[in-house]
Amino acid sequence: MAALADINPFSPETIEDPRPFWHAMRMEQPVYQVPGTGYFAVSRYQDALYVLTNEEIFSSKEPPGLQQPPGPEVEAILKQGYPPAHTLLSNDPPSHTRFRALVNKAFSARRVAGMEPHIREIANHLVDGFIGAGRVELVSQFAVGLPLTVIADSLGVSREDMGKFKKWSDDSVAPLGGMISYQRQIECAHSLVEFQHYFAARLEERCLEPRDDLLTDLVNARLARVEPLNVPEMLNILQQLLVAGNETTTNLIASAMMLLLRSPEQMTALVADPSRIPNFVEEALRMESPVSALFRVTLIDTEVGGVKIPAGSRIIVIYGSANRDDAQFPDSHRLELERDNARSHLAFGQGVHFCIGAALARLEGRVAFETLLGRLHNIRFMTERNDFTHTPSFILRGLKQLWLEFDAA
Ligand code: HEM
Repeated sequence: MAALADINPFSPETIEDPRPFWHAMRMEQPVYQVPGTGYFAVSRYQDALYVLTNEEIFSSKEPPGLQQPPGPEVEAILKQGYPPAHTLLSNDPPSHTRFRALVNKAFSARRVAGMEPHIREIANHLVDGFIGAGRVELVSQFAVGLPLTVIADSLGVSREDMGKFKKWSDDSVAPLGGMISYQRQIECAHSLVEFQHYFAARLEERCLEPRDDLLTDLVNARLARVEPLNVPEMLNILQQLLVAGNETTTNLIASAMMLLLRSPEQMTALVADPSRIPNFVEEALRMESPVSALFRVTLIDTEVGGVKIPAGSRIIVIYGSANRDDAQFPDSHRLELERDNARSHLAFGQGVHFCIGAALARLEGRVAFETLLGRLHNIRFMTERNDFTHTPSFILRGLKQLWLEFDAA
């Protein structure tokens, strides 16, 4: 294994596969001030958990990512939309508590559980689209469509607007990785404004004509002594659902399939006993965490893992590294369907910002694999087509493509 001093955290090789870098940090300097940045990277499980559960020290009030500063053109475009609001991801208690309580109502266990038949229908429909061919590019033909259609349907987006919806989702996520051109930033700003105007109109419709959907729940979210959401706040929450909910779940499905095909014994065990799929999904979240890292800022002088950190420092919490910490998950590089603490991973975060869509993502993961393993037999890699490369990003981890062959059931 390479030594920490020999690893360039920003090289294309490290961005493609950060695991040697994470391993070196955990072994040598678990809380590591990344040279040339001033950022403190937190790589071990217990330290990451400590940061995530002490929000009074580690604030989320900074933009969630390595955002490039908006140039004048981007600012001018954004002025044509609604004013920015900081609701969930980039907010702290007590303000965060109000939004979280209101949005929790829209993401109730009842609403999520009630989505299962519809999610299964979408998964089957996607499989119908490729099963006859005996081969599939799983990312574009299945893993993108499942979460995107689920969230679009629950927000009442019509089928003819799906293309636009996909673009808004992609363009909401793209700026977060900190790796896009200025031209692309301009495009993303246009997208955001278009998205805001589209959903402002839909919210207005739900006020006049309520339906049984997530959007109506958001409009109607009321709690005693808590001010209801206004339009810019609702739009910000909707955008966060796109940012946090689509690409993450897509990446989970594709990387989970890759892991499974690399562990033939586990594949056989899972096909024989699909009741193990939920734990398999937890293991996939742990080993290939779709959100590999996010940021915090220290509000006071503090200490993590024995390292002194001044107030105002930026912290990178590396969920992906924490989830491969052998101290928490022995033989962390192994996919183990029987791992009894698999669910204690940090792939959904922890503390006040714990993923609001975790139950939905878990449900989508389970239904995806029940459907794929139930209908496709003898699934295998199309070796000549796969290079297993990932979309370059500091904070999201996902395969660009995954080509498979199979025999139809
Ligand atoms: C495999 C899929 C997913 C993963 C890995 C994931 C991961 C995460 C993580 C790590 C956080 C915590 C952020 C922090 O610590 O600052 C988070 C928060 C959040 N997630 Fe997810 N997420 C997934 C799916 C979803 C889905 C399906 C939705 C909704 C449709 C969603 C909506 C959110 C929202 C709104 C937050 C912010 C919560 C808050 O700040 O209070 N996520 N997610």
